[in-house]
Amino acid sequence: MNYITVYFSPTGTAEKSSVSMIEALAEGKEFGRVDLTAYSTRETEKVFSTDDFVVFGTPVYGGRIPKVAAQRFARMRGQQTPCIVTVTYGNRDYDDALLELSDLVQANGFVVQAAAALIGQHTFGQIQVGRPDEDDLKENQQFVKTFLEKAEKNPRKGSVKLSIKGNHPYKAGGKGGMFRPLTADTCIQCGLCVKNCPTGAIDSDCSTIDSGRCISCFRCIRRCPVQAKNMNDSSYLAFAEDFSKKLATRRENEYFLPQK
Ligand SMILES: Cc1cc2nc3c(=O)[nH]c(=O)nc-3n(C[C@H](O)[C@H](O)[C@H](O)COP(=O)(O)O)c2cc1C
Ligand code: SF4
Ligand code: SF4
Repeated sequence: MNYITVYFSPTGTAEKSSVSMIEALAEGKEFGRVDLTAYSTRETEKVFSTDDFVVFGTPVYGGRIPKVAAQRFARMRGQQTPCIVTVTYGNRDYDDALLELSDLVQANGFVVQAAAALIGQHTFGQIQVGRPDEDDLKENQQFVKTFLEKAEKNPRKGSVKLSIKGNHPYKAGGKGGMFRPLTADTCIQCGLCVKNCPTGAIDSDCSTIDSGRCISCFRCIRRCPVQAKNMNDSSYLAFAEDFSKKLATRRENEYFLPQK
């Protein structure tokens, strides 16, 4: 079996979650990564076989999977390829995102064997800072261990019955947020933000942002080596403070295994 994780992850939390899952599944063996975050991967196509096992990972945006992530995942094709779907969300809710991801990959030839909705630090404000943390990663390992034990006792080739939370039709969401990062005079024109923006929204001048393309993922802010990309804007800061208070209560990871 080849173990591969396929993810979209602007600020790295969904990547951390899905890598921990694939590591546990591979049990010390090598595993592959298909990182679909970069704009340059928007037309990447891959076909997986029955000898592959895939873990999908993405953040939740407005209770859905980000539209850009959905477009990139749609180019991944399975051939009855087993997989685990995971979404990582910022402690509010994942609403219909996990169900949407499960539906999307099943329609493309993958067989969803298990699923997880996991907590990650929210992109905005100071919410569940540092998550997924050591305890989260241990929980992921325990989940994979239980999954493997179940699979060994009761091997299944075809689809399994999972009760993933969510509704059809899905709620509206997935488009991204309204915040547009600013660029301070301290910018050294290194071009890292231009190169790393998942949607190609930053002009080669390193500061002009195409508002129609930007999804407020804040990857440019996190990747800027001199903290020149920023959201030091009074209305954002007021929102972030209030939002952080509202979402202060810790939520736990949820895991979905076959019922029998
Ligand atoms: C535009 C946008 C919308 C978001 N919507 C939600 C949401 O509906 N529920 C939630 O709990 N977190 C939400 N988040 C937070 C992200 O899901 C969370 O921070 C996630 O861990 C980010 O993943 P990444 O580090 O892989 O980019 C949103 C973040 C952004 C940027
Ligand atoms: S410009 Fe917008 S879409 Fe691009 S990295 Fe920055 S926040 Fe994300
Ligand atoms: S990453 Fe920061 S320093 Fe580099 S070009 Fe972008 S804003 Fe300027």
